[in-house]
Formats: sequence, structure tokens, C-alpha cells
Amino acid sequence: MVCLGNICRSPLADGLLRQKVSDNNLDVEVDSAGTSALHAGDAPDHRMTATAKKRGTDISFLRARQFKSKDFQDFDLIYVMDQSNLRNVLALSQTDSDKKKVKLILNEISKIDAEVPDPYYGGQAGFEHVYDLLDEATEIIIEKIKNNQL
Ligand code: 4NP
Repeated sequence: MVCLGNICRSPLADGLLRQKVSDNNLDVEVDSAGTSALHAGDAPDHRMTATAKKRGTDISFLRARQFKSKDFQDFDLIYVMDQSNLRNVLALSQTDSDKKKVKLILNEISKIDAEVPDPYYGGQAGFEHVYDLLDEATEIIIEKIKNNQL
């Protein structure tokens, strides 16, 4: 799961998917990163942590890191939150196989080429909206994993 800072959207996507992987007893490794190093080492934004906690997901243990080209070797699928993330991740790809791994996460809920809006400079409603979008998307991802459709 990749966004810009790895403190709002991608840690939530990471935490939601980890929880669903665990709930379904699946053997899947989940991680997240930011295309920038701006917040490397930081805990998730307290507004995202609070929104997630209120709705039943703990993301407080996650720490931000920057996306690196080795992630293409370590992961089978790379979900990005917006078009800018997509461009920045693709810029680090080296092969067609790398490129094929990168997907806009909202394409999983048939919002073709839609973006998970960056809630960083907005209010609480933005964080709730991000939660709704990513909860729905990670639910579909889990169903696809269970049905071998990814
Ligand atoms: P994220 O949100 O990409 O969802 O983690 C942001 C966090 C921090 C900044 C921008 C977006 N920032 O500019 O510091």
C-alpha cells in the first residue's frame, strides 16, 4: 500500500488489510510505504489513527518508510492511492513485470482511475471518507485473494 507520506492513507489501507488477512487466516504479507521520505520513521497521523481506532482498526504500531525499488522484488502487488503515487512508483520500476504489479486501489471497487483523496490538509470528514473507501477496497481485495483472482 503506497501513498505520498505513508502517514494517512497507506497505513490505513495496510492496517485494514492486515486485519482482514488475520481474520481470514490467510498467509499474506502486508506492508506500506510512502513515495516521499518526508515522514520516514513517523507513526501514522493522529487523526488517521483516531478515526481507525474508533472504527475498529489499530494502526498505531505502524511506522512510515519510503518506497524503494526492492519492493518490486519483495511484493506481488503494489496498490497506490492516486495518480501521482502511480507515476512515482512506476518511475522506479525496471521491468514490465514490475509495472504490472502496480494498481490504483480504487480500481478494485470499480471506481476506474479514481483517487483516494489526500486527507492531510482537510477536516475529520476527509478521514472518515478515506476509511470508507479503503474499507470497501480491502474487503474486495480479500475476497479476490480467497478466490485466487489476484
Ligand atoms: P498521505 O498524506 O500521503 O496519505 O500519508 C500526506 C501526509 C503528509 C503530507 C502529504 C500527504 N505532507 O505533505 O507532509
